[in-house]
Amino acid sequence: MSRPPLDGAVLITGASSGIGRALAFEFAPRARAIGLLARREDRLAELRDELLALRPSLEILVLPCDLLDPEATFAALARFEEVLGPVDVLVNNAGFGDLAPLHQADLAKLERMIALNCTALTRLTHHVLPGMLARRSGGILNISSGFGLNTMPGVAAYAGSKHYVSAFTEALIAELAGTGVCACHVCPGPVKTEFIEIAGNPTGLSPALIEITPETVARQSVRAFSRGRALIVPGWVMWGVISLGRLTPYAVLRKVYGLGSRLVRGRSG
Ligand SMILES: NC(=O)c1ccc[n+]([C@@H]2O[C@H](COP(=O)([O-])OP(=O)(O)OC[C@H]3O[C@@H](n4cnc5c(N)ncnc54)[C@H](OP(=O)(O)O)[C@@H]3O)[C@@H](O)[C@H]2O)c1
Repeated sequence: MSRPPLDGAVLITGASSGIGRALAFEFAPRARAIGLLARREDRLAELRDELLALRPSLEILVLPCDLLDPEATFAALARFEEVLGPVDVLVNNAGFGDLAPLHQADLAKLERMIALNCTALTRLTHHVLPGMLARRSGGILNISSGFGLNTMPGVAAYAGSKHYVSAFTEALIAELAGTGVCACHVCPGPVKTEFIEIAGNPTGLSPALIEITPETVARQSVRAFSRGRALIVPGWVMWGVISLGRLTPYAVLRKVYGLGSRLVRGRSG
C-alpha cells in the first residue's frame, strides 16, 4: 500500500476557511512546504502568519487564485512549482454547495459549482499526476462529501458533483495501484464552516446534533490519509448514517425520500 509523502510540498485549495484552513494546520508540522490557494488573499496571508508562528522553518506560499479561471489556475501551479518544487501532495478541498430543489436553483450558480467541484479538481489532478508517477511518489486527497456516497431531495446537482469526486477518486485509486502514488476521498456529513452561508438551508433545520468541527475532519483525514486509507467518513454518527444509506436499496430510499418531499411540498403550498 502506498503512503503519501507528507514531508514534501503540499498544495491545499480552499485554504482560506473551514476544512481547508484546518487541513493546513494538520499538514504544517510534517510538510517541507505548503501552498495555500483560494481567492481571499488577506485570509491566506493571516493563515501563513499563524502557521509560521507555529513552525518558522515551514516554507509557505500564498496563492490567490480563482479556480474557475483555467489560466489563473495554471499560473498558480507554475508559481508553486517555481518556488516550492513539484507538488508532492495535492489537496482538492475548494468547493461549495447549493441546497435547493433543482427547479428553484439558480442555474448560473449550479454551473459554477460543477465547474469548481468537478472541472477544477480534475484540471489540478491531471496537471500534477504525470510528475508524481515519474517520481513514483505522491498523494491526492479529495474532499468529497457524504453526498458523494448518498443522496436525498434538495441536493441533486451538489450530490451529483460530489458523486463525481468520489467516483473519480475510486477510479484513480484503481489506476494508480502499484505506482507509488495514492489517492483518497473524504466524505464528511455536516461540518461547521462557511459552507451553509453559500449553500443555503431551505429546510431551516439545524444540523447541530450531527455537525462536527473542521478541525475534527482535518485531524481524522490526515491521520487516515497518512496510513494509506482510501476512503474516510469522519465522525461516528455520520459514518453510521452514511453506511446505512449505502446498504439501503434505492427502491426503499426512493419511497422514504419521495414521501418526505411530498410532505414538504404539501406544507409549503
Ligand atoms: N461544511 C460542510 O458541511 C461540508 C460537508 C461535506 C463536504 N464539504 C466540502 O468541504 C469542502 C470545503 O468546504 P468548507 O465546508 O470548508 O466550506 P467553506 O468554509 O465555504 O470553504 C470553501 C473554500 O473554498 C474556496 N473557494 C470557493 N470558491 C473558490 C474558487 N472559485 N477558487 C478558489 N477557491 C475557492 C473558499 O475560498 P475563497 O472564497 O477565499 O476563494 C474557501 O476557502 C468543499 O469541497 C465542500 O463541498 C463540506
